[in-house]
Amino acid sequence: MTDNSRVLIFDTTLRDGEQSPGATMTHEEKLEIAAMLDDMGVDIIEAGFPIASEGDFRAVSEIAKMAQRATICGLSRANFKDIDRCWEAVQHARSPRIHTFIGTSPLHRAIPNLDMDQMAERIHETVTHARNLCDNVQWSPMDATRTEWDYLCRVVEIAIKAGATTINIPDTVGYTAPVESADLIRRLIETVPGADEVIFATHCHNDLGMATANSLAAVAGGARQIECTINGLGERAGNTALEEVVMALKVRGDIMPWHTGVDTRKIMNISRRVATVSGFPVQFNKAIVGKNAFAHESGIHQDGMLKNAETFEIMRPEDVGLTATSLVMGKHSGRAALRSKLKELGFELAENQLNDVFVRFKELADRKKEVYDEDLVALVRQNEAVEDRLKLKSLRVSCGMGVKAEAEMTIELDGTDQSVSATGDGPVDATFNAVKAIFDHGARLQLYQVSAVTEGTDAQATVSVRLEEAGRIATGQSADTDTVVASAKAYVNAINRLLVRREKSAPGADVKGVSYKDAG
Ligand code: KIV
Ligand code: ZN
Repeated sequence: MTDNSRVLIFDTTLRDGEQSPGATMTHEEKLEIAAMLDDMGVDIIEAGFPIASEGDFRAVSEIAKMAQRATICGLSRANFKDIDRCWEAVQHARSPRIHTFIGTSPLHRAIPNLDMDQMAERIHETVTHARNLCDNVQWSPMDATRTEWDYLCRVVEIAIKAGATTINIPDTVGYTAPVESADLIRRLIETVPGADEVIFATHCHNDLGMATANSLAAVAGGARQIECTINGLGERAGNTALEEVVMALKVRGDIMPWHTGVDTRKIMNISRRVATVSGFPVQFNKAIVGKNAFAHESGIHQDGMLKNAETFEIMRPEDVGLTATSLVMGKHSGRAALRSKLKELGFELAENQLNDVFVRFKELADRKKEVYDEDLVALVRQNEAVEDRLKLKSLRVSCGMGVKAEAEMTIELDGTDQSVSATGDGPVDATFNAVKAIFDHGARLQLYQVSAVTEGTDAQATVSVRLEEAGRIATGQSADTDTVVASAKAYVNAINRLLVRREKSAPGADVKGVSYKDAG
């Protein structure tokens, strides 16, 4: 890379993001997110951890074959088996990359029980092996920010000599601070022989809420690759959010003179999609992509906005893909209008899918006066549950003061309709009991959350349900103008995802079941 003002964007939503508890995505969802990342101009997509499971391997291989622009990268621990499997998955990409890592801090060295010299030797062998397979190799010293300075310099030099082309410096536990982050990269580049021949990357976790600031500081220190995820998805408090770094560089180019190749107008769409498929709703006040990021509630703000939008906005909603007017259609709108509106929102549906969405759009328009972009997006997304073992067919709930809530429900389970009636403490409890009576999944309800997609009492409610079973977490989401129906669909969706997760986490098959111990 010769343009020193260009910063590469490395998206790890499908690897580090998907590792976050409950954020399991189906195979089709991963392919879809990868296509969106590729289309928006992300430079490198970390598509998964190929050794972790057959599912991860298949996703990385297919994404590698499908990507048109981005480099496709897979993760591997520091052993030949992982690296070979990773290469097998990424090799078909136009531009493949192997990413291999090992924990270098004292705490992490203790896990595989390697001393400093043994670990140095392991790094030399594994990076050399990766480089013999692929000419684009990224190496990461996990927990770099808690690794002794001299040892960090030593292992970075070994990795460079062994052929690594990108050196990623992870702040694995979100421990660093901006001033230190900039300094660390700057000193590494100044100190380590050969540092000027590779690209330095920054990979920050958000445990202290400083991930984005730390990543941008690392760029000021000389890093030219930022690792990030959509919506900041990731383990614990998450990772640096792609939308934040990209927009910060765009809006504050005066003091941060670096640019990316990302088309920012695609941000809102992918953010919403990742929120849906991961089951992690975006908090309302989240920078850039939160529902309130461009909303102005107070009188003073609204008045200022009407006179000049720049009084309270440092970027235009259109810059991140938010259309200024989101009111779209009503019950008289036809199929062609729906098709064109969906296209504008980034959905190109096959004829049969469009027909399904159209039927449900008409049903919604009958119940709701105004149908907004957000409602349409929710409708399309709901339509995508194709391989589900459980499908909600009907639900009738009676409840009120002084009566026990009762739910009558029919669910299609593996192709056969099953009907029950169940009672509970309120309509949602009765509904969930009915689902359990049909399919006794044994999982524990960890979270039940309701939010409105749009305003008004006829708004669609989005419900998120998180289930936990023996360490596996699955989150389901759904939207409907009827909160109880949305709850039932979200619950069924969570069970379907749990079933996918059960398959994925058969012994030795789960990405979270792969221990970093085997890295040594
Ligand atoms: O946070 C981290 O250290 C990682 C590595 C695997 C790069 O995700
Ligand atoms: Zn990470």
